[in-house]
Amino acid sequence: MIYIAIDGPAGSGKSSVASELAKRLGFGYLNTGNIYRAISFFWIQKGQPEFSKEFFEFIREKNFSVVDDSVIVDGKRYNNELRTLEVGRVVSKIAEIPEIREIVTRKSREIVKDGNFVVEGRDIGTVVLPDAFLKIFLTASIEERARRRYKELISRGIKANFEDIINEIRERDYIDSSRTISPLKAADDAITITTDGLDLEEVVERIFSIYTERMKSVRDNSCK
Ligand code: CDP
Repeated sequence: MIYIAIDGPAGSGKSSVASELAKRLGFGYLNTGNIYRAISFFWIQKGQPEFSKEFFEFIREKNFSVVDDSVIVDGKRYNNELRTLEVGRVVSKIAEIPEIREIVTRKSREIVKDGNFVVEGRDIGTVVLPDAFLKIFLTASIEERARRRYKELISRGIKANFEDIINEIRERDYIDSSRTISPLKAADDAITITTDGLDLEEVVERIFSIYTERMKSVRDNSCK
């Protein structure tokens, strides 16, 4: 199977880039952040219980799959409810818990095992798929990332306030990069792309040409 790992901080453009790239290559697309978000959503729905064996078992038994940018859990489709500020505020704390990371890593590998996939998250190139064919680390300034998130929420018809978004992103950046297990960081063999001032098409094109080059050199080498 061919895997392309796209990691990076909140609002760096991962989701739109990864899904567009997947479409262009005819690959499946997995947004692992959506799985952390779905777990956060269930945790809130259940009344924010203790992180006990019972809660982990409840999550472990659920069946996760993906269609486009939605998560299907036990046959029900989740999308907009995963992107609320309420979920955004707790998701990084949920993602710090080792048992939860282990569950999501296992479920993510299960989802991609039979096909070529573009997989996005924070630890795809470092932990989930360390042997990925291509690893990209996308980043951008915090202002640019907050502007994008604001636009995205408004276009989805979700109420948003720019200051709240900047604060939420800053807080998540901090938690995501300072946690001890699988922190947000570029894999040693990742290619970093800073996306300030680049539009979606330009970033997709850049990754697409890196991919084609690499494919070509693998083919050339195997013909030698
Ligand atoms: O789309 P955005 O960048 O806002 O975040 P996301 O991809 O929806 O991920 C939400 C949160 O899940 C992140 O802030 C991380 O705390 C966590 N996450 C993670 O820890 N590891 C991943 N592979 C993906 C997401």
